[in-house]
Amino acid sequence: MTTSDTSAPAPDAPAPDTDRADEMRERLITRLRAVKALRTEPVVRAVRTVPRHLFAPEFPLGEVYDLTTVLRTRFTDDGAATSSVSATWVQTLMLERAAIRPGMRVLEVGSGGYNAALIAEMVGPTGAVTSIDIDPAVIDRARTHLTRTGYADRVELIVGDAEHGCSDGAPYDRIVVTVAATDLPPAWTRQLVEGGRLVLPLGVRGFQRIYAFTRHGRLLLGETGNHAGFVPMQGLGAPASATVPVTDTVGLTTDADPVPAPENLPGVFALPAHERFTGVRIGGTEPFSTLQMWMATRLPHFATLTGTVDDFPHKPMTRDLTPAMWDGTSLAYLLSPAMPQNPSRCEFVACGHGPGAADMVTLLADHARRWERGHRGGPGPRFLAHPALPPADGVVRTRHTRLLALWDQAEENHGPDWPADPGP
Ligand SMILES: C[S@@+](CC[C@H](N)C(=O)[O-])C[C@H]1O[C@@H](n2cnc3c(N)ncnc32)[C@H](O)[C@@H]1O
Repeated sequence: MTTSDTSAPAPDAPAPDTDRADEMRERLITRLRAVKALRTEPVVRAVRTVPRHLFAPEFPLGEVYDLTTVLRTRFTDDGAATSSVSATWVQTLMLERAAIRPGMRVLEVGSGGYNAALIAEMVGPTGAVTSIDIDPAVIDRARTHLTRTGYADRVELIVGDAEHGCSDGAPYDRIVVTVAATDLPPAWTRQLVEGGRLVLPLGVRGFQRIYAFTRHGRLLLGETGNHAGFVPMQGLGAPASATVPVTDTVGLTTDADPVPAPENLPGVFALPAHERFTGVRIGGTEPFSTLQMWMATRLPHFATLTGTVDDFPHKPMTRDLTPAMWDGTSLAYLLSPAMPQNPSRCEFVACGHGPGAADMVTLLADHARRWERGHRGGPGPRFLAHPALPPADGVVRTRHTRLLALWDQAEENHGPDWPADPGP
């Protein structure tokens, strides 16, 4: 894979308007506070102090100081981003979850310069920041910007594959991973101090969210946070998912390890469809990502389907992540068609094809109802990660570890926070 940069700033580019940048940074702080991505004084102080625009000089100030804009800086030949300055709300949210204090030793996985400078502000002169990136050009860029802004002596930059962590600055009080992982390499746990915290965007069976784990011996205990969309990890930790074509336009993706071969699935869509309406209805802006996570952590042979409205018998929840399960010759999945009587709401429906489809759609519909009874409106699961957990319901196996989704008992009684469904 070769990569290329966004256009570098011309050496004689006009000096940025510092007053305007300062004003925009203050406005950004207000917006970050309003969406609760910024809460505590040490993070506010860091955001106020570090001139973000000097780490992304090729972008207009309006994009640099926006809440949600990702500043993509490196691309593959076919245009996929491999490096970026992440959106401001994601960066501050992760730093809030990391709870970095003065004097701490922190490893940042995935460099760029800006986030490392924020961390340097938070750990202060008695702390230490190490930032590792697999791409030497990213490290060069980070070094240029850290030098220009006066942070070069406060951040150790390393080129390497963070699958092995970074032994140079270990052990760490905090590891902040800024690239999407699909696993928890043993080095990350080993290089954390006891009680240390690992904050990362982790894809669990295709659903990427930000987690904050705390180390207890070989065990990591963590909470699920917001949905995230980081670029995928490269190197040894690159995603091990496989996509099997089901039709010309629909693909089935699974990250089970070892990757199973769903034989005979091509052609399954042509078989008669079984359908079961679940009675679970949502509408408006109600999020349903905990339903997807429930399916991902509870269903055997879980996978996701990619496809648009025209490819399925009903509307999918999202284009790329339709929850599905398969058994080699059969396939079932959950769609969300609008209700004819009330098009702003939809009802989940389980559909399936193949000899085992009748049982599979029943199982999918049951799980949708269990989510509604126990977890709708709740925060989603906590996760426990340990390499030697025995296989069990709710245990997701990855190459290096086992992830147990803890859907707390208390949540079983947690009714929806959303207005009752008025029904058809
Ligand atoms: C979203 S960017 C990092 C953003 C950065 N922290 C910032 O503040 O702007 C993700 C980075 O992870 C790097 N990366 C991908 N796989 C990696 C790996 N295995 N080890 C270390 N870095 C990796 C990419 O080269 C990319 O620069």
